[in-house]
Amino acid sequence: MLPTFRCADSASLGDIPSIPPLEDGACSIPTLDVGFLRRSLLAWYAQQGRSLPWRETRDPYAIWISEVMLQQTQVKTVIPYYHRWLEQFPTVTALAQADQQQVLKVWQGLGYYARARRLHQAAQQLLERHQGQFPSSFDAVMALAGIGQTTAGGILSAAFNLPYPILDGNVKRVLARLCAIQEPPNRRLKQLWQVSSEVLDTQHPRDFNQALMDLGATVCTPKQPQCDRCPWQSVCQAYARNLQTQLPMSEPRNPIPHKQIGVAVIWNEQGQILIDRRRPEGLLGGMWEFPGGKIEPGETVEACIQREIQEELAIDIAVGDRLIVIDHAYSHFRVTLNVHHCSHLNGDPQPLECDEIRWVRPDELEQYPFPKANVQIIEAILATAIPARS
Ligand code: ADE
Repeated sequence: MLPTFRCADSASLGDIPSIPPLEDGACSIPTLDVGFLRRSLLAWYAQQGRSLPWRETRDPYAIWISEVMLQQTQVKTVIPYYHRWLEQFPTVTALAQADQQQVLKVWQGLGYYARARRLHQAAQQLLERHQGQFPSSFDAVMALAGIGQTTAGGILSAAFNLPYPILDGNVKRVLARLCAIQEPPNRRLKQLWQVSSEVLDTQHPRDFNQALMDLGATVCTPKQPQCDRCPWQSVCQAYARNLQTQLPMSEPRNPIPHKQIGVAVIWNEQGQILIDRRRPEGLLGGMWEFPGGKIEPGETVEACIQREIQEELAIDIAVGDRLIVIDHAYSHFRVTLNVHHCSHLNGDPQPLECDEIRWVRPDELEQYPFPKANVQIIEAILATAIPARS
């Protein structure tokens, strides 16, 4: 539940509060004028706020979908997915009753597929626990699959105008600069949540939270923040100390691992290709893929493919020409997919390391949910002049 905070609420818009000295690790919010912060941000939002499709509805279901899509994905990418999703699954019930494969297909290309699986699971929880109605209680929302504190705050403020704070990546940056927090934001989460709660305009939580997100996305950007356009410039502790491009501080990063993968497009004599469905857990759980695996040190692509296919499917194949090489970046690692045409020689494929396998014709591939990197393989298959072997 929301903690209570002391808030100064006196200055009128246009007052320029003086900048207090910064103590090490201290946030100056208690001494800043919260009234100024609220009024100036809301006035800016009225002029400069973005018009986004999920702001045109009060339907908590639609807002929930948008908030989950926006968890790790940019607004411009989300917009077409949001519309397609609502066309396909217009209600909680429609989503709960859909097949998981259909859900993953609509999500295909957005990444972080666990989000789609959890939306599906949460829709079923909503039917069981709340007769399909999205609840307005913080605890009930937090108890749904895939919803954390900032998503709950985003939904409850946007759908019901309830005064719950938010703290997504953009908001962390805005508040870390506002308070000139000299540590990476994720090490000061308690303080940042407190600041987000303190500044929240409890009379206008919907607009205030949306405004805070817009400020982070359009003005208080990671690189080259446009401080001259910022309604909080006069009170921003980072700006006052010319630290706006140095803050927020980032965590030291480990180098991003890069994996080389051998991938098989295995043809049978009927001109069909073998695909497999990954087990439900993990990064790409439930998605279909072309079988393959990691190239071991000193191993050739061809040897890797042969070995992986024997281990995963217990069949013999002949590895043929290279079809395509694809580089793809996930959040914490990069992969290079070395894809080869292969021919099935012996054995009945067994799903030893996956949930399901199927032989499909090339024109059937698009019916299945595949991760983005695999979609390029499908395009290459369809574009190659391999004669139809049916
Ligand atoms: N990121 C998370 N929620 C958002 C929203 N409602 N509008 C824009 N960006 C967001």
